[in-house]
Formats: sequence, structure tokens, C-alpha cells
Amino acid sequence: MTVYRGIDELIGETPILDVSQLSPNPNVQIFAKLEGSNPAGSVKDRIAKAMINDAEARGLLTPGQTIIEPSSGNTGIAMAMIASQRGYPIIVVVPESVSVERRQLLEIFGAEIIFTPGEQGSNGSVRVARQMADENPDWAFLYQYGNDSNPRAHYETTGPEILRDVPDISHFVAGLGTSGTLMGVGSYLKEIKKSVQIWAVEPPSGENVEGLRSLDDGFVPPVFERWGGQDLLDRKMIVRPRESIECARLLVKEAGLFAGISSGAALAGCRKAAARIESGVIVFVVCDYGWKYLSTGAWTSDLDSATASTEKIIYF
Ligand SMILES: Cc1ncc(COP(=O)(O)O)c(C=O)c1O
Repeated sequence: MTVYRGIDELIGETPILDVSQLSPNPNVQIFAKLEGSNPAGSVKDRIAKAMINDAEARGLLTPGQTIIEPSSGNTGIAMAMIASQRGYPIIVVVPESVSVERRQLLEIFGAEIIFTPGEQGSNGSVRVARQMADENPDWAFLYQYGNDSNPRAHYETTGPEILRDVPDISHFVAGLGTSGTLMGVGSYLKEIKKSVQIWAVEPPSGENVEGLRSLDDGFVPPVFERWGGQDLLDRKMIVRPRESIECARLLVKEAGLFAGISSGAALAGCRKAAARIESGVIVFVVCDYGWKYLSTGAWTSDLDSATASTEKIIYF
């Protein structure tokens, strides 16, 4: 048995679950990479660790320095977990419409929370965090949307784990938020196995699926541009909030997997992909589990009110 010396040593090496019973095509397998199994509960543990390690190594983050980050949740929670262990005060700027579970997790890990107007979404939080960072040059602003350690963490860890565990992968499907997952995993897979298709899941412009953003809403993350996102992505699939919830419910019913709503969106994308191709092996990312979304009623309310409630809450 391995004894781990710090919580951040538990990040990564997540399991993969075969959920092919949810494939509409018997010649297409669907595998779920369970990133909710990371210690702070999401795929963002990987990038939080990478961004903090990198900033420390480059002398951009020094003992006791305050960190400020705009995040609707998962990145802030993961950074707060690591910051609490390394003695960094952390301020997380979030839209006031984030779920109560996310607020509480940030508080539990000791983050100071600054709220921005809900209707401005995550773009409002980015603006305020950037302004506060400008006004306080002694703070560290690691900025997940523009930090190459974000896609690099996936290039160095998530991508190799997927190819090692599923060498016959034909398609990789993931939601697009900062685009770090798609850029990092996509670059690695294409470099080693050229034939792999990289398909992104986006909500329609103007609609919310937690964790995800539409590039058509006007903000293209700098990491997407720098990592050649336009060329790397083979296809974008639009998934609506209602389908995301339906698929999150299917995952529980058919596979016993209690995944977050962006994972429902990714599964909806996989099912569309499976219906379009003749045969293949699709891997998708379960960014987090369902615990943080219980207050939305996504699994317990009727579908109409669950959809209305998740549309109101901004998670990304
Ligand atoms: C729950 C959830 N799903 C999907 C994503 C998208 O991942 P990425 O930022 O790597 O594009 C995020 C990130 O914001 C997320 O929090």
C-alpha cells in the first residue's frame, strides 16, 4: 500500500468506466474518465496543482503571497484546497449565482469569496479579478483561461493516462470551458495517434450548461488560441441544458454513475457522435460528480423545473 504525504499527491490517475450500455450504436463503445475522483472533486485539481507548482518554480508565487482567481467553482475549490495546505491566502471571484454547494466548498477550504453580478456570468468575474490583480501587483494572478499550465497539465497527465488505458480510442469528447482539457488532451492524442478525432461539446450561445461556455458568446480563451484550438477541434456539438440533465439521469439509471451536469452534456455529445460513426471507441470526461448540483433538483425535480433551475444558475 502506498502512503501519500500530501493531499495533492492524490491528484490524477483517475479510473475509466465502460458505459457502452448507453451507446446507441452496438459498434461504438463509450468510456467515461472519472475526474470526479480527484480529491477536491473535479478535473480542475490537475490544473490547480500545475498552475501553483509552475508559479512557485518560476518565483511568481512566494510564501504567504495572496492568490486571486476568477472561477465559478471547480478551479477555485481545487486551488483553495492546495492553497490551504501551502499557506497561501486565496480570494476567489465568482458570479453571485453559483450554487450554494460551491460557495460552501470554497468557504470550507478557507477561500475569501468576492461576488460579481450573476447576469454577467463568468466574464464578469474575470473582469473584476483582473482589475483587482492590477490594483494589487503583489498578489498572484494565475488566471486559468490564459495559463499554459492548464492545457499542459492535461497534455502531461490526462492525455497519457487515457491513451495508456484505452489504446484503441478513436474519439475524444469533452466539454469546453477554459478549453484546457480539450487543448491538452487533444494535442497529446493527435501527436501520438493522429487518427483520433477531437470533438467539443458546447451549450448554445446564451444558454447555460454548468462548466461549459459557447465560444460564440464572445470570449475566446487565450489558451484556445495559443494551442491552435480552431485546427485541433474536428467538430463542435451543441448540447442543450435539458439533454444534459436527461443524460446525467441516464448515467445514474443505467450505469450507477452520479456525475455532474457537464458530464451529462458530454455523454449527450458521445451519443450523437456514436450515431454518426460506423464504429469506434469514444472516451469522454466526467469532470465532476453530482454532489455539487443536488440543490438544483436535477435528479429529483420534474424535468421542466430542473431544466429551468439549472438554466438560472451559472456554474462555469
Ligand atoms: C464541471 C465542468 N465541466 C467542464 C468544464 C470544462 O473544462 P475546461 O475548462 O478544461 O475546458 C469545467 C471547467 O470550467 C467544469 O467546471
